[in-house]
Amino acid sequence: MKSFLSCETELRKVLIPQNRLQERVSELGHEISRDFLGKDLAIVAILKGSFIFAADLLRAIEIPCSIDFMGISSYASQPGSGVVQITKDLDESIAGRNVLLVEDIIDTGLTANYLLNNLSQRNPASVDICALLDKSARRIIDLPIPYRGFDIPDVFVVGYGMDFQQQYRNLPHISVLRLNGGTKTNSEATVSDPADSKSES
Ligand code: IMP
Ligand code: MG
Repeated sequence: MKSFLSCETELRKVLIPQNRLQERVSELGHEISRDFLGKDLAIVAILKGSFIFAADLLRAIEIPCSIDFMGISSYASQPGSGVVQITKDLDESIAGRNVLLVEDIIDTGLTANYLLNNLSQRNPASVDICALLDKSARRIIDLPIPYRGFDIPDVFVVGYGMDFQQQYRNLPHISVLRLNGGTKTNSEATVSDPADSKSES
């Protein structure tokens, strides 16, 4: 399919269709509800990429919880440095609370590692990661990800909140993006869902 926004990029294939996203987010919501039952759950969603995932996840969580947002500098600004600029901090204290850090995608792990350290310094009762996507093959820093939607290969993805140059966030599914003249994708990409080990294309 041709990009509807730019002649320099091309949407290659749907990696995760809308119905699989909905099913998996619902499963994650059940798991989180079970594990945090009776606890003071504070969802911290990282802007901008996780905003659609966080909105759906919140509605799949069946126990009381709050949500707050942190804005961080974009992926392209300092790739690989592990340095993250906080552009919007939390509005509320997380001291003594059980924090669930909601991310769109864990790639090298540098961003999530920075955020884990940052949040841990605010004296929460606990901090756990919930990531919709995991590019585990690219991991530099080993991180525990107790709530993980899908493991994906080393491809650049957009949609369901995730962008390329601020575009494509509005796609209802997750697609592989190909940068013409570049190698942002592998057309044989498949995705695996930790809930069932079979892969789909
Ligand atoms: P990391 O620090 O390398 O783990 O990068 C994580 C961040 O990079 C994610 O939260 C995304 O914002 C961004 N990112 C990494 N891979 C992709 C991708 O395929 N599409 C869109 N954003 C991505
Ligand atoms: Mg992100």
